[in-house]
Amino acid sequence: MTSTYDFGMIGLGVMGRNFLLNITDHGFSAAGLDLDPDKAAALEAEASGKAVRGTIDTADFVRMLKTPRKIMLLVPAGKAVDSVIGTLLPHLEHGDLIIDAGNSHFEDTNRRIEELQARDVLFMGMGVSGGAEGARIGPSIMPGGNPEAYRLVAPILEAVAAKVDGEPCVAHLGSTSAGHYVKMVHNGIEYGLMQLIAEAYDILRNIAGLNNKELHQVFKGWNQGALQSFLIEITANIFLKGDNLGEGWLLDKILDKAKQKGTGKWTSQNAMDMGIPTPTIDAAVTMRGLSALKMERKMASPHYNRAVENHSKVNRDTLVAQVGEALYFAFIVTYAQGMHQLTEASKEYNYGLNLETIARIWRGGCIIRAALLEEIRKAYTDQPELRNLLLSPAFHEPVLHGQHACRSVIKTAIDHGLPTLAFSSALHYFDAYRCEQLPLNLVQAQRDYFGAHTYERADVEGVFHTDW
Ligand code: 6PG
Repeated sequence: MTSTYDFGMIGLGVMGRNFLLNITDHGFSAAGLDLDPDKAAALEAEASGKAVRGTIDTADFVRMLKTPRKIMLLVPAGKAVDSVIGTLLPHLEHGDLIIDAGNSHFEDTNRRIEELQARDVLFMGMGVSGGAEGARIGPSIMPGGNPEAYRLVAPILEAVAAKVDGEPCVAHLGSTSAGHYVKMVHNGIEYGLMQLIAEAYDILRNIAGLNNKELHQVFKGWNQGALQSFLIEITANIFLKGDNLGEGWLLDKILDKAKQKGTGKWTSQNAMDMGIPTPTIDAAVTMRGLSALKMERKMASPHYNRAVENHSKVNRDTLVAQVGEALYFAFIVTYAQGMHQLTEASKEYNYGLNLETIARIWRGGCIIRAALLEEIRKAYTDQPELRNLLLSPAFHEPVLHGQHACRSVIKTAIDHGLPTLAFSSALHYFDAYRCEQLPLNLVQAQRDYFGAHTYERADVEGVFHTDW
């Protein structure tokens, strides 16, 4: 067997297969490995006429690849990654590169980099976003780690990535696990935006009384304006999908229990560890948890009638417009939280992240791509050291404007007993962030009262304790 293939892919599920076919569309040859013979065969069938081979044999697979070998893993995060690396290692040579393109936890990536360094094998953690379709036609790609490793695959990644204004949505983002960290925060933002959209849907359906066709029209309209984004676009489409098993709309038949694979939770957990507030991402994770309590919600529901008396009558068109403005406001705040987390993580983990680059490569291919990201990119071009998007002059006006709508929408939802944890968290984040004087002086006093934890004063330097 001759070593003729430019690139190797392990894991030929739909993502792996599509990514590999995308590579071959750009003139590179590629080999795929999967333990499931059907998947290896499916690849060959789909790629007939192209420079592609599928196999179930690790030794054959490795032998087919040009050195230094470039091998990408698209297998489930966790134990599977370590197990694949374990079977691969005996066949590799010094200088070969393994790329983990799954949603691995960044701490696992750091561990793997160290373990493989000892074997003189390069290891790169890389986020890939865009789902199956993105993998096939152009995802957003978030590689990190050794720049030398990136150089080995840069031509391939730049060819396959989504393009915006001719620029590929890929860049070397920073050291060690930077790629997986950025992908994790991408997903945290994704959770936040999805929950906001779900709350908007709830309000429009249950208070404004919009049916699915009307919801489709509203979202379609939003997608032609400032809210233009992948998630708004697919939501508009979702409303119009008929039920394949019966009458009516598919959406109305889907059980309201949202699953999660963990990346949103990791974002919140790590933000908490660093002391960085990301309440809208936290709210989204919490709401998935509440959604999972279907049985309990069903038990509680008859005891707590949701209808609140004497709520003010809202004009339907006004409410629709307010929800759109509230969404735009809350989208900005959600990106602000995620970008702030990245800024702090860059210092904490010495990643050397460039926020402008991250906003740039998120403009296309990924799940959180949105017109807003171009504004975010510009904010970081103007102020590379920007601490928080809310401090950018470019966002002062839209945020000041949108907060009024968000306030009204939340009041209306509260009057009707509808939960708006994500909208509320975005507004409260804003209200707290812009508030020079918070009541947390009292918390300090309480801590000192019961635990002698000391406090600082606003008027005199030093650390104080009082015998209360
Ligand atoms: C992407 C997605 C992708 C995956 C999510 C789903 O960027 O392409 O984020 O990675 O669909 O991880 O996550 P949950 O199952 O946790 O919702």
